[in-house]
Amino acid sequence: MSVVEIPDEGGDVIAAVDYNGVIFPNFDPDVIRNISSIDIRDGDIILCAYPKSGSHWMWEVTRLVLAGRLDDEDRDKMLTMLERSPESGYINLPSPRLLNTHVGIKHLPSGVFNKKVKIVYILRNPKDVAVSYYNFNKSARVPYKGDWVNYIRPFAEGKFQYGSWFDSVLEWEEVKTRYPDLQIHTLFYEDVKENPVREAKRLAEFLGVERSEEFLEQVCRTCSFDNMKANAASTHAAKSYRKGEVGDWKNWFTVAQNEWFDQLYQEKMADCKLHFRYSLDTSE
Ligand code: A3P
Repeated sequence: MSVVEIPDEGGDVIAAVDYNGVIFPNFDPDVIRNISSIDIRDGDIILCAYPKSGSHWMWEVTRLVLAGRLDDEDRDKMLTMLERSPESGYINLPSPRLLNTHVGIKHLPSGVFNKKVKIVYILRNPKDVAVSYYNFNKSARVPYKGDWVNYIRPFAEGKFQYGSWFDSVLEWEEVKTRYPDLQIHTLFYEDVKENPVREAKRLAEFLGVERSEEFLEQVCRTCSFDNMKANAASTHAAKSYRKGEVGDWKNWFTVAQNEWFDQLYQEKMADCKLHFRYSLDTSE
């Protein structure tokens, strides 16, 4: 395990941790090393996603849907993040514990696959993920200073934290076939933007809790982008609320970058049946 600086195409760097060839954010190496031995319990609910797919948002929605009340004690998502928080931070939480992670399949604790857990898996189109991650890195504690033009290619090649978006998504698709009994609920960021209450209803069904339409509407209002951004304004999580839109990538990708990325997507995802939406405008 070593602290590394990953250069973009212009020589600007992102600080990270290299653990057996896998690039993690610059978190505590001891916590990263311990991930695979975390004691997962029956009943745990684990929110999994490649970074910048909307996990803060879905964390909050899932937390409130589970609690069944809006005034449930506020809990910091970071304190139950497997690769970020020591296990002591969540070991004594009552079941069902709501945990979260961005780590790839090979680092997940074995309990994820042999205990009775529920996985809420979030997906977002990779162009908006790339733009979101670029801006997130720019606002990091040790800010990345690079330009977008130098970021996008190494990002797409999986050089930065958590590796390749393509690999992450394909691995999860394979897991769904390899472990057909694993309870996984797949949510698309774009679908939640389009109709949050419909998606909250589907989530409640998956979690096995009965919640009224009125309550789910309140949850979605509470978890609107503006509310969450305002609530996080003075906290370490403020940088996780930037624009909260579908299609901001159009303000960043040049025509050439877009064509190159589409081509790459075709190559990497040829056998993948997932359909990503890059805009909510149905006329496109
Ligand atoms: P943008 O950078 O495109 O704005 P994560 O939580 O996985 O780190 O994802 C962060 C992305 O989700 C950011 O995207 C952030 O603005 C967006 N986001 C956070 N809360 C949201 C909300 N309530 N509604 C919509 N998007 C939200």
